[in-house]
Amino acid sequence: MRILVTGGAGYIGSHTVVELQEAGYDVIVIDNLSNSSEKSLERVEELTGKKVPFRKIDILDREALDKLFSEEKIDACIHFAGLKAVGESVSKPWEYYENNIAGTLTLVDVMRKHGVKNIIFSSSATVYGDPAFIPITEECPKGICTNPYGWTKSMLEQILSDIQKADPEWNVVLLRYFNPIGAHKSGRIGENPNGIPNNLMPYITQVAVGKREKLTVFGNDYDTHDGTGVRDYIHVVDLAKGHVKALKKITDKSGLSIYNLGTGVGYSVLDIVKNFEEATGVKVPYEIGPRRAGDIATCYSSAKKALDELGWKAENGIKEMCADSWNWQKNNPNGYDD
Ligand code: NAD
Ligand code: UD1
Repeated sequence: MRILVTGGAGYIGSHTVVELQEAGYDVIVIDNLSNSSEKSLERVEELTGKKVPFRKIDILDREALDKLFSEEKIDACIHFAGLKAVGESVSKPWEYYENNIAGTLTLVDVMRKHGVKNIIFSSSATVYGDPAFIPITEECPKGICTNPYGWTKSMLEQILSDIQKADPEWNVVLLRYFNPIGAHKSGRIGENPNGIPNNLMPYITQVAVGKREKLTVFGNDYDTHDGTGVRDYIHVVDLAKGHVKALKKITDKSGLSIYNLGTGVGYSVLDIVKNFEEATGVKVPYEIGPRRAGDIATCYSSAKKALDELGWKAENGIKEMCADSWNWQKNNPNGYDD
């Protein structure tokens, strides 16, 4: 089976290419490299000992996609390509809707033209908004998103579901990721954020490596065990393996399927700081600041459906997630420029 991986040079995509190749799948990667480096794929090749065929293609470029599908045998697509910075999406909504939504519509149109009607889509727990209940099952109603990035995920879920409903030949798997952190055990691939990180773990590792002075904890007056926000952090390699398992829904011709990919366990910001310090022996200075607009108190998954139906569950605990994030950061303080 040959899998097209869009956005495969990025953080989650590169880890997924490793797991796909190790599971015996053939891959082909496309990426416009707007938020990644081709070096990630060279390192994937080092890790797996296999070639990673790559074409620099933008998913908005219909002609280039058409040529790709004419020239290459493709059975299914794992679709990671998209813009993902929440704050930036608030100031550049048009760019986010254009890239994520128009890009996916173009991709899917070219796919169906070439008779490839199998797609696994990167969605997010953000579609639950402020969740109606915790732990969040897949039956939890979708909520109000607080930013255009979140809306692109919510809308694309709807669009892909409608396309599948209209044409049952489509097999669509929507994977709702909780909070991916960590890196490959080798320390050769990992998350490589541009500028000041928005997310907690890359911020912590940049403090630990001396690039930033201290962490600001966004609020300690939430209704949680220590007042700081609680999230479901998941090791990126476990997340990547979830995609390999989800291919079963494509081969079984299951129509539309939706899964949470999380651990089912919530940790607060201060739990993460403590676990990071214990796992690495490095101190993380922090101060308490105001809440960040749009944040919710608690968000963690029920991971039961993915276990029952895909036989998938996250294997790495929080200490491994912290240790692997640190191993990547300290060996590559400047990401792929090192
Ligand atoms: P990433 O930015 O590292 O990877 C996305 C990749 O897509 C990048 O390599 C980028 O260059 C590429 N890309 C963007 N627009 C493109 C376009 N028009 N054409 C071709 N390539 C394009 O991000 P990631 O963390 O690996 O996320 C992968 C996917 O998972 C994204 O869709 C993201 O929204 C989703 N997601 C991520 C998280 C997270 O916390 N990282 C959580 C939930 C969902
Ligand atoms: C954020 C996005 C969400 C996206 C997810 C992807 C917002 C409002 N939400 O979620 O849409 O799907 O990333 O991973 O941006 N924190 C600090 N200090 C920091 C950074 C974060 O205290 O410097 C806290 C946050 O308040 C939160 C927790 O750490 O309680 C995790 O934050 P983050 O990594 O940004 O993820 P989410 O808020 O879950």
